[in-house]
Amino acid sequence: MRRSRRNQTPIESDVSRREATPQQFECDKLDKQHSGMAIAASKRTAQPSSAALSFLHSPRRLHSTSSCSLRPVPSPLRLFQTAAIGSRRTTSVVVCAASDPAQLRSAREDIKELLKTTFCHPILVRLGWHDAGTYDKKIAEWPKRGGANGSLRFEIELKHAANAGLVNALKLLQSIKDKYSSITYADLFQLASATAIEEAGGPKIPMKYGRVDVSGPEQCPEEGRLPDAGPPSPAGHLRNVFYRMGLDDKEIVALSGAHTLGRSRPERSGWGKAETKYTNDGPGAPGGQSWTVQWLNFDNSYFRDIKEGKDEDLLILPTDAVLFEDSHFKVHAEKYAEDEDAFFKDYAEAHAKLSNLGAKFNPPEGISMDDDDSNKTVTRKPFVAESIKIQYEYRPLASISFVAQSNRLNLQT
Ligand code: HEM
Repeated sequence: MRRSRRNQTPIESDVSRREATPQQFECDKLDKQHSGMAIAASKRTAQPSSAALSFLHSPRRLHSTSSCSLRPVPSPLRLFQTAAIGSRRTTSVVVCAASDPAQLRSAREDIKELLKTTFCHPILVRLGWHDAGTYDKKIAEWPKRGGANGSLRFEIELKHAANAGLVNALKLLQSIKDKYSSITYADLFQLASATAIEEAGGPKIPMKYGRVDVSGPEQCPEEGRLPDAGPPSPAGHLRNVFYRMGLDDKEIVALSGAHTLGRSRPERSGWGKAETKYTNDGPGAPGGQSWTVQWLNFDNSYFRDIKEGKDEDLLILPTDAVLFEDSHFKVHAEKYAEDEDAFFKDYAEAHAKLSNLGAKFNPPEGISMDDDDSNKTVTRKPFVAESIKIQYEYRPLASISFVAQSNRLNLQT
């Protein structure tokens, strides 16, 4: 049955009209349709594209209407709330369901299929991190404290400069969200991120679920809680931001290792090259600059490559470089460059902790999807993307470090 547009979430309001499958929304098509509308125009230039930026701020891009989905779901947490719709105020029953274990397991299989067809592992990881990474441990009240609460689905937060491009990740996940009515956005973002890490050959993340969603855009955090890639004092900045979340130096370094996956795109963040020999053939939309050669493979090459610092086609942000400059960070970065098992162990713990930041669980102890989670050993399945056709011709370069320069000031990840 067709739901009224009024009751659709912002993402649904933009996507469901097209009745798209995840396959139809594969990364490269998304990029063409949205932020990538301007990619063609700005190709091979490091300047941020004005069309892409104006798209991100276009009031027509997404329609922020109601808050949570109003569909009936099994065992929901039901909230009554007054929702502002246009200029009228109406009282509606808003469903902010806690997720169901059977649906979570099934959704995980769908996410695996989505990953196989779209190679969107990196952006799903970034989505989960940006939803959780707004947490402020000094604020007790939920959802004011920020964190993993699904607030990133609302236009107001998607428009934060740090979140440029993440609308594409939401669109990729929307059909899965539609299929599993009892899974909250907060859980879906974290499930997608953890599944992407595991499917890319990374460690098994000891996750729990049951996160409750915020109900409306007025509950989104203010802009500016996520880190900037090029602050005047990168070590101090990273500590300010991550200590605010209750994370320590070891966790900062371990989590930064997620940059073993993915690329930076100048038209989104202002960082990185428009394309390199490692990204000019995709998979997904070609372009951007990766931190590692095999940027769909989760391993410890991020640390090894920064340490070497010899390949100008690989990205090193100022906040990456500082991991080998600051004496306290360096202890961990050196260890991870040498010992992948140590990296995997610390990464898995830090990722799980990040995914729980600020979250309100229903039931309070959370839901485990895998009964034997605690007994599971690290998954060491190497990821091989069939469509990667990198013609890697190694040319030794002068032994200097390349640290990326921003094309725009004060941009955040
Ligand atoms: C330490 C502070 C961090 C900074 C300054 C930072 C900065 C950035 C920037 C500038 C980009 C490029 C975005 C774009 O142009 O599309 C990016 C991408 C990415 N970030 Fe971070 N990041 C940080 C921490 C993290 C953490 C903690 C994670 C995950 C645990 C993470 C995961 C990713 C991933 C996977 C991508 C690639 C996305 C893609 O290919 O679409 N980052 N980050």
